[in-house]
Amino acid sequence: MPRPTQAFIDLSALAHNLGVVRQYVPCSRIMAVVKADAYGHGLLHTASALKDVDGFALLELDAAISLRDAGYQQPILLLEGFFSTEELALFEQYRLSAVIHHSEQIAMLSDSKHHNLDLFLKINTGMNRLGLAPEQFPQIMKALTDHPGIDSITLMTHFASADDPLEEDEVFQQLQYFEAITQNHKYPHSLANSAAIIRYPVTHADWVRPGIMLYGASPFADKTASELNLKPVMTLSSKIIAIHDLKIGDRVGYHGLFQADRPMRIGVVACGYADGYPRHAPTNTPVLVNNQRSRLLGRISMDMLAIDLTEIRDVELNSPVILWGNGMPVDEVAHQAGTTSYELLCALAPRVEKIAMTQP
Ligand SMILES: Cc1ncc(COP(=O)(O)O)c(C=O)c1O
Repeated sequence: MPRPTQAFIDLSALAHNLGVVRQYVPCSRIMAVVKADAYGHGLLHTASALKDVDGFALLELDAAISLRDAGYQQPILLLEGFFSTEELALFEQYRLSAVIHHSEQIAMLSDSKHHNLDLFLKINTGMNRLGLAPEQFPQIMKALTDHPGIDSITLMTHFASADDPLEEDEVFQQLQYFEAITQNHKYPHSLANSAAIIRYPVTHADWVRPGIMLYGASPFADKTASELNLKPVMTLSSKIIAIHDLKIGDRVGYHGLFQADRPMRIGVVACGYADGYPRHAPTNTPVLVNNQRSRLLGRISMDMLAIDLTEIRDVELNSPVILWGNGMPVDEVAHQAGTTSYELLCALAPRVEKIAMTQP
């Protein structure tokens, strides 16, 4: 029997969540963000469940080529663009769209003879991560519109805090800034991530770029995924591989971080930080065992973790444990572990088998 640590990827949940995105943006085109191996879910089966989207966005060139090779015809956008003139040949060959965020990329374009390029010009409206400074915009637009090899231009920006209700002013400032800079140009716009799709209809524009909501997690700290009608896509599951009865004073795991203050029963689960479970998740982080809520005890090891079985009914060796997913929101686990669902999902380790499935 193989090690029982597996990630089930529910393709019907992906399709359902895409339907939720569509309800929010009936008039915009949807570019599904599938970077980092589709947020840890596995690129190709994720793409198959999202095959009706209008485009894909990611930032790994080999993954973009594998999508094109798999037959997807829609635009595939590289969110960090190209890093060298040599790469530009692949952009032309595979009809990949590139984000332009830096004047060095304009220099590479000017030196190249490539054609049929589709560009998304990214403007820094306040996040100060990627994007051209607004004062560079007129000159760069001129360089692009004069370039014979460019088929299309889309203007884009990215919000720093659309997920935070206390940062509403910041979102509107970025939006106003973007509109002021781009107002004399007729090109399509792309601004909204998941949080902006849900909270700020005024940002929807021509293309939206949902990521986390497609995977069934909430972009907000103050709203759960189920309140947003999103279904979890990844269920990380394993089994109990050892059971111990503890006396008062017995300690659990490395450095005995947990100590029993009453007689207890614990289970050892085949899942650890080398599987992508966060090592810093503390005692009391929730898990689901035999469909009952329980909690972690002590320190996470590389390959195992311990859970409390004292109050759990009908539990035995090989009883199923869900670390996150169906019945155990990844957002709740992430919150307990002091991180986000984005990090947990993307950190799923390659050694965990991913099993794509469709719910009836
Ligand atoms: C440029 C860009 N657009 C869209 C997204 C999708 O964001 P989210 O997963 O919050 O929807 C990301 C993700 O980080 C991004 O970097």
